[in-house]
Amino acid sequence: MKCTCIIYWNVSSRVWSIALFRPSNKGELMTPDNSKGRYPPSDEYRRTAFLKSADEYKKIYAESMKDPVKYWEKQADLIDWYSKGWKDAFTWNKKTNEFTWFKGGKLNVSYNCLDRHVRNGLKNTAAIIFQGEEDNDVRIYTYGHLLSEVERFANVLKKRGVGKGDRVAVYLPMIPELPITLLACARIGAIHSVVFAGFSSEAIYNRVADCSAKVMVTSDGSYRAGKKIDMKGKVNEVLEKETAVESVIVVRRTGADVVMERGRDFWWHDEMVKVPAKCEPEVMDAEDPLFLLYTSGTTGKPKGMLHTNGGYLVGAYSSYRYVFNYNPGQVYWCTADIGWITGHTYILYGPLSFGATTLMFEGVPSYPENDRFWQVAEKWGVDIFYTAPTALRMIRKTGDEWIKKHDLSSLKMLASVGEPIDADVWKWYHSVIGGGRCPISDTWWQTETGSIMIAPMTGAFDLKPGSAMKPLPGIEAGVFKEDKTPCGTGESGNLYLNRPFPSLARTIWNDHAKFVETYWSAFPGHYLTGDGARVDEDGDFWLLGRVDDVISVAGHRIGAAEIEAALISHPAVAEAAVVPVPDEIKGEAIYTFVTLKDGFTDSEELKKALVNHVRNVVGPIATPKTIQITGGLPKTRSGKIVRRILRKIAGGSRSDELGDTTTLIDPAVIDALIKGRN
Ligand code: WTA
Repeated sequence: MKCTCIIYWNVSSRVWSIALFRPSNKGELMTPDNSKGRYPPSDEYRRTAFLKSADEYKKIYAESMKDPVKYWEKQADLIDWYSKGWKDAFTWNKKTNEFTWFKGGKLNVSYNCLDRHVRNGLKNTAAIIFQGEEDNDVRIYTYGHLLSEVERFANVLKKRGVGKGDRVAVYLPMIPELPITLLACARIGAIHSVVFAGFSSEAIYNRVADCSAKVMVTSDGSYRAGKKIDMKGKVNEVLEKETAVESVIVVRRTGADVVMERGRDFWWHDEMVKVPAKCEPEVMDAEDPLFLLYTSGTTGKPKGMLHTNGGYLVGAYSSYRYVFNYNPGQVYWCTADIGWITGHTYILYGPLSFGATTLMFEGVPSYPENDRFWQVAEKWGVDIFYTAPTALRMIRKTGDEWIKKHDLSSLKMLASVGEPIDADVWKWYHSVIGGGRCPISDTWWQTETGSIMIAPMTGAFDLKPGSAMKPLPGIEAGVFKEDKTPCGTGESGNLYLNRPFPSLARTIWNDHAKFVETYWSAFPGHYLTGDGARVDEDGDFWLLGRVDDVISVAGHRIGAAEIEAALISHPAVAEAAVVPVPDEIKGEAIYTFVTLKDGFTDSEELKKALVNHVRNVVGPIATPKTIQITGGLPKTRSGKIVRRILRKIAGGSRSDELGDTTTLIDPAVIDALIKGRN
């Protein structure tokens, strides 16, 4: 604990005296303002926050809107540049939807996350605390040690011929070698592309092939809830097909027997000792790509979102500072997987560029028992905790006694991401996990936006359960009707971000036309988020979920079209339509309607085979909850499947609740679908 020491002249006793002040740690409770249903932060919390009042926020926000470019240039001052050689901090060609931020500025992201902290006195401060699935499996990386590991691995990559602009595909579990790999790529200017460890070999192949990765980094296997999972075997399957991959670096994690191909596959631990210890950071242009991350959209093909060095880092740093109120010495824990954007920005780049201590957890909330999160939080004295509503719903279901077993008094701030958090779960999170003391930041953002866009700045706002509240400074968000006129107070519509900001993805890898069509064609000059929202009388945002055919299962985005394509690739399937259904724990689950080719008949076995087929093609995260075999699907005269109706049928609606069915080519199909509902 930090103390302040004051030496003063004691007038009454006429001696010099010393007074020691410790910050109070009373754990002041937040007192809900019942008249308005709001939760103001306690004074104790407010004192430690970056923004301390609504007025302070309003002033900064208004300034940022008056001159967004100037505002972002000020944010860019917070990171280290070799040179700020840009002429125009922002350029935007509205015709081609190409835009740049800080182009001509030179920096290195790994320098910003490591070297500058080592130089500024954080060499022996913990950068990453790794907590393995087994409790005694712990590794602590100080900033100094992490830098050495990153330098060595950067040299391993160089030895394998990786240079500036080359793609490195990363298929690793949540172990420290994962952030080390990403920072090593950033150090030498290679573009990393992480594939979530839960994807199947076909999904890995699509991503590796799309970006023509030169090197892959993987492990022999991973641990999940006490079981060993194969990883290298999947990579071997991927590499049976034609790819650009020349070498594979393999981390030994589980010790499983794996097939290594001579000349192509190399063990991490062998290579690390063969290379020089030092590796100077490459000088990168702000607009050089930093990474690709694939995300699901409305077509079958995942999109490789491209993020740049300068803009992304400025967004990651600046948002981390506004939202999490990190104070030196605290332990910050984001429970996401680095395979998703939340892990990229808020386990790795945000906290490390800020000089924070970030906890990285390999396990799951329910292993070995249902209190695992709280046991870890207590063990490490976690101050700031960031998770997803799906995890909260699951934990709540197992019973509060698991939480009450632990002393969670170190927690000061809580946050949520990935899906709307409903008021009920919010209040439970606040009272049971946060002990009534901790404000909650419901953070809205996307893979594309790179960093948090809308979220309460918790020292400044009186919180409203269920609302993500206000955009961060520099971000202008708006809700518009289909005709592009602004929605009135309380009216639902499409959420747009009104112009490009530094951390927004620049393009889709190899497909700029799709980038333009997906995000910029609906309302030129405005970025289409694909989410519905409304704004209340106080100007606070309420997020309403996706308005397109993207399903959010346990907070993971999965394109309906990706699952449909997988189903159609099965020999028995003629046609498939996939829709979300509400799910108590996962938020949404996958409901599939399938028509069969002639010669195939409905059976439990076939349904099981179809479920397995989807798991194999896309991965276990896309496992359908329900397969309904049907004779036909509702279609318009032009042959379009009407998903609006299928959503309602899957959700249990009666035939008179389906809305307009007159445009269907064969309305009779509806009765059959309702009868055949599982
Ligand atoms: C949803 C995750 C409501 C939203 C960072 C968005 C949310 C998609 C929230 C992006 C939130 C994320 N409230 N919905 N606080 N956060 N979403 O790309 O539908 O994996 O479009 O990025 O998650 O998911 P992605």
